[in-house]
Amino acid sequence: MLSELWVVSALCAVALSAPTFSMSAVERPVEMKVLSDYFQMLSAKVQEGKKMAQAPVCDLSRAVLPVTSSSTLPAPEPGNTVKHVAIGRGTQNYTCDTTNATAIPVAAGAVATLFNASCVASTYPDLLSLLPSLALEFNLTSPDQETLTLSDLAVSGHHFFSNATTPLFDLNTQARQLGLVPCKGGNSTAAPKDAVVGQNNKGFGAVAWLRLPTRDGAGNVQEVFRVNTAGGKPPAACVGMPATFEVQYAAEYWFFQSS
Ligand SMILES: *[C@@H]1O[C@H](CO)[C@@H](O)[C@H](O)[C@H]1NC(C)=O
Ligand SMILES: *[C@@H]1O[C@H](CO)[C@@H](O)[C@H](O)[C@H]1NC(C)=O
Ligand SMILES: *[C@@H]1O[C@H](CO)[C@@H](O)[C@H](O)[C@H]1NC(C)=O
Ligand SMILES: *[C@@H]1O[C@H](CO)[C@@H](O)[C@H](O)[C@H]1NC(C)=O
Ligand SMILES: *[C@@H]1O[C@H](CO)[C@@H](O)[C@H](O)[C@H]1NC(C)=O
Ligand SMILES: *[C@@H]1O[C@H](CO)[C@@H](O)[C@H](O)[C@H]1NC(C)=O
Repeated sequence: MLSELWVVSALCAVALSAPTFSMSAVERPVEMKVLSDYFQMLSAKVQEGKKMAQAPVCDLSRAVLPVTSSSTLPAPEPGNTVKHVAIGRGTQNYTCDTTNATAIPVAAGAVATLFNASCVASTYPDLLSLLPSLALEFNLTSPDQETLTLSDLAVSGHHFFSNATTPLFDLNTQARQLGLVPCKGGNSTAAPKDAVVGQNNKGFGAVAWLRLPTRDGAGNVQEVFRVNTAGGKPPAACVGMPATFEVQYAAEYWFFQSS
């Protein structure tokens, strides 16, 4: 019990000191390695806590999908269980019709790197909910560099769109192959009012929380939830925006499988 408390306070210290660190780093893009190291450290701390407390603290059956009072997302299908939890960090893409003075930005997919947060989700849900806003403070280097520099311990996959209506999660890494998870449009609800609006608290808001049903080819994964979003929303109007642009975001992704 005491040792569990020690780990909790150690993790909280890390979480609380991190924003100060990111402020000093805010003038320059930070290598993805920083985030990778952060998640590996969290994972190591959780493993450490597991040994010290002699309790199965990384048990995903203990992880509970966050909901908000305003959320109108359906609950996970009865019987579905959590297979994986990841923090996604990347960009939401948008297009603007620059020939139209009253145009509004149109969503054009997203690209994100997924970091393994399964252990944190099952052990320290409060800490998990801080991670998207923390991750948003760091810019990532290019995906090409990432595969060279990152350890598969922390990265659990990649998120992108395979076509305009198919958000895809590639959960295959050198370390583990959880497969491809193609999804389709599903349910959506606005992020809570107190969600982080963007990097450095500048931005246009947090993208919606989602429940995405999977398409054929997703193995036993039935549905994917995007919750605790931070940033990602475009400006309300296209005035002054280029034809294509990206908005930085982060979120928790929860993968549910049939049992
Ligand atoms: C991160 O990237 C965005 C968009 O590319 C840029 O506007 C912002 O200044 C960058 N932030 C840092 C800390 O480099
Ligand atoms: C300009 O954009 C607005 C908002 O999306 C739309 O209602 C309108 O039809 C567009 N006008 C033209 C000429 O495309
Ligand atoms: C995530 O990390 C945990 C240990 O911290 C590991 O058991 C699990 O297999 C990892 N999942 C993926 C998809 O990498
Ligand atoms: C997008 O991809 C999905 C899955 O492969 C497919 O079912 C769908 O027909 C595709 N849509 C378009 C417009 O190509
Ligand atoms: C969720 O979306 C499905 C279609 O994908 C729809 O049938 C269902 O009514 C929606 N549920 C809620 C609570 O909005
Ligand atoms: C949008 O996403 C694609 C990947 O799907 C990426 O290659 C591109 O650079 C992104 N940004 C813009 C402004 O199109």
